[in-house]
Amino acid sequence: MTRESRAEWLAAATAALVIALSALFAALRNLSPLSVPAPQSAAAPPAPAVDAARIAAGRAAFERMNCAMCHSIAGRGNPSHPLDGVGSRLDRALLRAWTLGEGEAAAQLGGIAAMKQRNAADPELDALLDYLQQLR
Ligand code: HEC
Repeated sequence: MTRESRAEWLAAATAALVIALSALFAALRNLSPLSVPAPQSAAAPPAPAVDAARIAAGRAAFERMNCAMCHSIAGRGNPSHPLDGVGSRLDRALLRAWTLGEGEAAAQLGGIAAMKQRNAADPELDALLDYLQQLR
């Protein structure tokens, strides 16, 4: 190999190496978005905190127990004491106390408390509280 041909070979090899490396770099840049988990599509619902059947049972209990005689939800029922968003205002213990007319709630409810206390025996009480809890 002559000195010139060796220099030419070296130049060609360097150029090939540069091309190969930039191709690799480009490929890695194009691939990298694939390694990032795809964001959930907007239509995908968030993981349900409580199951829909239980919420439906709670809603049915709310209707059966005539809560709407004094309360409204989403514009249905007596508008004087709306329960929209009650799950954000009250924790589970307070939801229970107000539903059953117990403790501090009993004092504020007066005569209505005795009526509410009858709800304590209802078999769907827990589902009812789940329903109220998810009214955000
Ligand atoms: C005879 C009327 C009456 C009935 C029936 C009734 N409530 Fe109430 N309830 C009230 C009154 C009055 C209050 C206190 C006023 C208020 O905070 O809106 C109240 C308060 C509440 C609260 C607290 C509301 C808040 O925003 O702090 C919850 C929860 C509640 N009731 C649940 C129920 C459920 C569930 C039922 C049915 C099982 C029911 N109530 C039936 C009269 C009633």
